[in-house]
Amino acid sequence: MVDKGIRIEGLKKRYGSGDTAVDALKGIDMQVAPGEVVGLVGPSGSGKSTLLKCLGAVIEPTAGRMILGDELIYDDGWKVTDLRALRRDRIGFVFQAPYLIPFLDVTDNVALLLMLAGRPNGEARSRAMELLEALDVGHRAKAMPSQLSGGEQQRVSIARGLVNRPPVILADEPTAPLDSERALAVIRILNDMARKYDTAIIVVTHDEKIIPTFKRIYHIRDGVTYEEAGEGRSFD
Ligand SMILES: Nc1ncnc2c1ncn2[C@@H]1O[C@H](COP(=O)(O)OP(=O)(O)OP(=O)(O)O)[C@@H](O)[C@H]1O
Ligand SMILES: [Mg+2]
Repeated sequence: MVDKGIRIEGLKKRYGSGDTAVDALKGIDMQVAPGEVVGLVGPSGSGKSTLLKCLGAVIEPTAGRMILGDELIYDDGWKVTDLRALRRDRIGFVFQAPYLIPFLDVTDNVALLLMLAGRPNGEARSRAMELLEALDVGHRAKAMPSQLSGGEQQRVSIARGLVNRPPVILADEPTAPLDSERALAVIRILNDMARKYDTAIIVVTHDEKIIPTFKRIYHIRDGVTYEEAGEGRSFD
């Protein structure tokens, strides 16, 4: 049993009610240790995004338990009072779509969270720059989001998800628009982050390029998960 990282027990999520209710999650059990990167794979509509949204406190589960670090955050109801602070300080999101802020340049898109958390602008920007360079998009630091390619936008959004070094990172198809080399670079960065900052990372993916890199994979089907050992292939 891990006493840090993420633990999910019997998590359920029902959308709607009555005849139109959809039981998207039917009792999910999962745990991710600090420093670990796990894959979450499953067919379309199997509940992957729903699970990440519950974990990220974007939507409310219907039942079950979620533990972040050593804190019970959900137990048949939220156990934390400030969900916005939970999302801002303890969870990094990397979405399928980049959702960059159109009127801020690339650096400030990444640095914004740190600035909002009260870090000096110079420090926030230099940390942003470090990640942008690691993601091979440092040369676009002064560009506006609309001037970037889809893959560049995605890498900027990944930098933004990592910048405040949250203990948990939830990534929904982070490599889908990227070519093989860049997809593996992203996975390498996520692994480095996990090791360096003891981050627990869940990567939802269909991407055959990156699936062999996971040491552990959760398969989700019809709202239930099955754990499997992955290849854990080296990608250097
Ligand atoms: N807001 C919603 N209201 C009602 N049903 C929803 C809602 N969001 C998702 N669902 C349903 O819940 C189930 C799980 O959806 P979810 O988005 O979690 O799937 P997914 O595994 O992320 O799929 P994909 O690979 O296509 O992104 C699906 O049947 C979906 O139609
Ligand atoms: Mg999805």
